[in-house]
Amino acid sequence: MEIDPINPSFIAKIKNIDLKKINSHTENADLLRKLLSKYKVLIFENQNCSTPEEFESISSIFGNSDYRSKVTTGYFKGVVCSTPLSPVHVLTRHSETYSEYPFVFGGDWHSDGSYDIETINKNAYYTMLYSKQIPSEGGNTEFIDLVSSYSQLPTSLQDMMKDWEIIHNSYGRYSLKEAIQSLGTKSFASHFFLPVIHTEQEIKELCKINKTFKMLSLIELQKEGISYPLFLKHPHTQEKALFINSSFASQISHLSKEESDKWLNLLLTSQEHYSLKYTLKWEPNMLIIWDNRVVNHKALPSKGERMMFRMIICDTIK
Ligand SMILES: [Fe+2]
Repeated sequence: MEIDPINPSFIAKIKNIDLKKINSHTENADLLRKLLSKYKVLIFENQNCSTPEEFESISSIFGNSDYRSKVTTGYFKGVVCSTPLSPVHVLTRHSETYSEYPFVFGGDWHSDGSYDIETINKNAYYTMLYSKQIPSEGGNTEFIDLVSSYSQLPTSLQDMMKDWEIIHNSYGRYSLKEAIQSLGTKSFASHFFLPVIHTEQEIKELCKINKTFKMLSLIELQKEGISYPLFLKHPHTQEKALFINSSFASQISHLSKEESDKWLNLLLTSQEHYSLKYTLKWEPNMLIIWDNRVVNHKALPSKGERMMFRMIICDTIK
């Protein structure tokens, strides 16, 4: 195994390793877990996972697969296909859908599931992603280091905000009303916001408008949100991260909406401009894993056929 850091504390490529051959109880697995804590994002080239099952088997190096993402409850024709009842999402995008549905899913900064109580309950903080087929154009993924977001803040702000709490929710991002406002038409919005539409009535309405999807079950929207420390301390490294993202961080708990918006905008702007960033250019058969407690990410637009395997992994080390 060869470790090639992109930055001393953020992103490392791990070379000369076949993850399928690593037993989770060995020293190499232990080292990989430590490297993930240290570098936050690990990149493995040439991994050759033929099936979602092979991909899933790798997850045991880093944790367990108890978390079943709720995304599996919906189908998006031509854009995202998930396998129901499997912890692995098979994400596909077909070239003919681009002109009709140009939306980039996950195209704003976010931490996977930061709005979801299951993320906390299951310690489900790792995302593992594998490129089965890369698009002909674009499709890069950007990462931002939230520990550097914290450390670049002036000490006076770090002190003033040290006990602040931040609420994350998905309501502003995914509610039908917001979707329609931001995307224009109801039929367009319905393709992309199905998994987080919050009432049965709305689902029925959408089914009447558009017959291209089949709803398997409903997802309950967590309107009240989840409260996190603004400066989230990582349990392994004790490093503090500025735990906000423009998709789900919605309200600083003890402040009025107006005051909260003022500080949140300032913090998000500071995070965007001064944190360590990295743009991952995908290659075929590349597997990456990151820690959503200390990393935000976003997807960039792409063109062409694409297939990815995706899985959320629960950290078993407290
Ligand atoms: Fe994501």
